[in-house]
Amino acid sequence: MYLGVNIDHIAVLREARKVADPDPLDALSICKRAGADQITIHLREDRRHMQDSDAENIIALSTLPVNLECATEPSMIDIACKLRPHRVTLVPEKREEVTTEGGLSVEGEQPKLKEAIKRLQAEEIEVSLFIDPTLTAVKASEDLDVEWIEFHTGKYANIYAMLYSNLSKTHHSIPELELSRKILKQMLQDELCNLRLLSCDAMEFGLRVAAGHGLNMQNVSDIVEIETIEELNIGQSIIARSVYVGLEQAILDIKSKLIR
Ligand code: PXP
Repeated sequence: MYLGVNIDHIAVLREARKVADPDPLDALSICKRAGADQITIHLREDRRHMQDSDAENIIALSTLPVNLECATEPSMIDIACKLRPHRVTLVPEKREEVTTEGGLSVEGEQPKLKEAIKRLQAEEIEVSLFIDPTLTAVKASEDLDVEWIEFHTGKYANIYAMLYSNLSKTHHSIPELELSRKILKQMLQDELCNLRLLSCDAMEFGLRVAAGHGLNMQNVSDIVEIETIEELNIGQSIIARSVYVGLEQAILDIKSKLIR
């Protein structure tokens, strides 16, 4: 199973002080050495983490394919078309959110998405849509004729965290879901089943399937068992672990969990 290492969180650390270090560019050779298959970066409209110069340098110098995540705004598509990464993953963006909390509203934004996809594909850039795992979103993605979809695994990761961490400590806990472990276990199985069925549907529609958000050393194994998911994009948990074990080891460790 392919691993895209999302190196945004290196820029998060740098921008916390607005200094020059750590530079995400320095991560490229380490990611490659550790067996990453792809570099994933997110150029946000407010540039709060990755800067234009990061995206330019990473895309120009990476020897691994780069997957650039960005919003569907025409100004972002201009940049993507100019930089020409291997793939662009279109993601929803809300300034107030800490991270990408959900998938694209694929049905709701058809004209804007169509235009963005047309422009990117004209540059021979593969297009992926970051979507919630619903049949409506999968069907809408098929209609949009993209190469890839990426399932947002946030719901799965949240249920997993509620089930296996100290519930009082997780910021993921949802107040109305004061649920017993039995119910949480069932919810987890249902979500895995949903991801499995939808990725089969997507494959039958001719879409390639990636997944990501909130995946880590603990919760990734059940996702790896879904054979129709080809690739995972993982960021925060890798960079967080690298504080203790180093980036190369953190990638090697998660990569070892992706072996089928
Ligand atoms: N895939 C996409 C499209 C994302 O936007 C993100 C970041 O939210 C990720 C994967 C990686 O998520 P995380 O940093 O939680 O591993």
